[in-house]
Amino acid sequence: MPWCVRKCPYCDFNSHQLKSAAPDGAYIDALIRDFDMELPRAEGRRIGTVFFGGGTPSLFQPEDFSRLLHALRQRMAFADDAEITLEANPGTIERGRFSGYRDAGINRVSLGAQTFAPRALELLGRIHSAEDTHRAVDELRAAKLDNFNLDLMYALPEQTLEEAVEDVRIACALAPAHLSYYQLTLEPGTVFHARPPKLPDEDAAWAIQTAGQALLAEAGYVQYEVSAYAQPGRRCRHNLNYWLFGDYLGVGAGAHGKLSLELPQRILRTVKPKQPREYQDQVRRAGPGEARAPAAIGESSFIAPADLPFEFMLNALRLNEGFSVGDYRGRTGLEMSSVAPRLASACERGLLESREDGWRPTELGRRFLNDLQASFLA
Ligand SMILES: C[S@@+](CC[C@H](N)C(=O)[O-])C[C@H]1O[C@@H](n2cnc3c(N)ncnc32)[C@H](O)[C@@H]1O
Ligand code: SF4
Repeated sequence: MPWCVRKCPYCDFNSHQLKSAAPDGAYIDALIRDFDMELPRAEGRRIGTVFFGGGTPSLFQPEDFSRLLHALRQRMAFADDAEITLEANPGTIERGRFSGYRDAGINRVSLGAQTFAPRALELLGRIHSAEDTHRAVDELRAAKLDNFNLDLMYALPEQTLEEAVEDVRIACALAPAHLSYYQLTLEPGTVFHARPPKLPDEDAAWAIQTAGQALLAEAGYVQYEVSAYAQPGRRCRHNLNYWLFGDYLGVGAGAHGKLSLELPQRILRTVKPKQPREYQDQVRRAGPGEARAPAAIGESSFIAPADLPFEFMLNALRLNEGFSVGDYRGRTGLEMSSVAPRLASACERGLLESREDGWRPTELGRRFLNDLQASFLA
């Protein structure tokens, strides 16, 4: 759902400034049609999780999600306990909004708090205040949506260690089930990349990160991935599926998908046009609902089997727990012999360690994750 009220200067997500008060409901029809065209590739599957991401999905109305989820349920079976997440910007949350989302079937929310410091919010070009975030959390609780995540960023322009620590303290006091704690990065193509603000240097950023991690651990948040922290039992199942190299359908402008049609030869990656207009035009041109669905839109290609070890490790090694032999074999269709020498070498370098029936990155491996991942390149 690729629209935002305003584009943040650090963000390289596929997000476009909304030119009207609210996005056009016709986009929901395009999503349903897009999903229809994906169906033949996903026959016999069940939906375990849905993630409405963006952009700012909370610009859409509860009725839009109600209609969309109803259409999805008519077309594919959902797991009884399906996790259905919505990304929300605190600046777009009106009173009663979250109850509407919950009634539409959403049972998890990810809220973009980023920071609670007024000056930092301004430097980040955010459209909301810290009070708006507090209000949004009150609304979540009133709607009984207690399975929520807060996005927090650190190493922000001009940020001091004290300010960063205070952000984590405030976030923990709001008691989210899950916390995503991202270091601000300067992404090519963004305003911040073209005109970099003054950021804490590497040592200061490291001090901020370790202090933040210590506070999170103290508050009961267990780190399970590079940037993900959760209360026990509250890890994000949707993201875990990505990290364990699972399959997913990508529906919507700029959405990516991955589908294993036959292991290891036919693992398909799909991507939809990024521009909302181009996306909607392509969906429309694919034709209205005739009996047999036309081929899916966008581009797709198979992952070369030689690239699979790296593709798998790129994801799985982000997890503190690493992966099991069954994960590797089950998701790539390859035998462990395809990576055995490289696993051994990474262990020797102290970047990886074996665990019961698998491997996980060591603390050193987590600090030099790029090196560890790159050692599995074809
Ligand atoms: C799609 S946004 C979340 C929902 C909503 N659009 C918002 O911003 O409130 C995904 C998250 O990625 C993180 N993010 C975006 N750009 C980033 C960057 N350059 N460095 C670090 N984190 C970033 C932010 O924490 C942001 O909340
Ligand atoms: S950070 Fe969120 S609100 Fe800001 S431009 Fe990116 S997607 Fe939109």
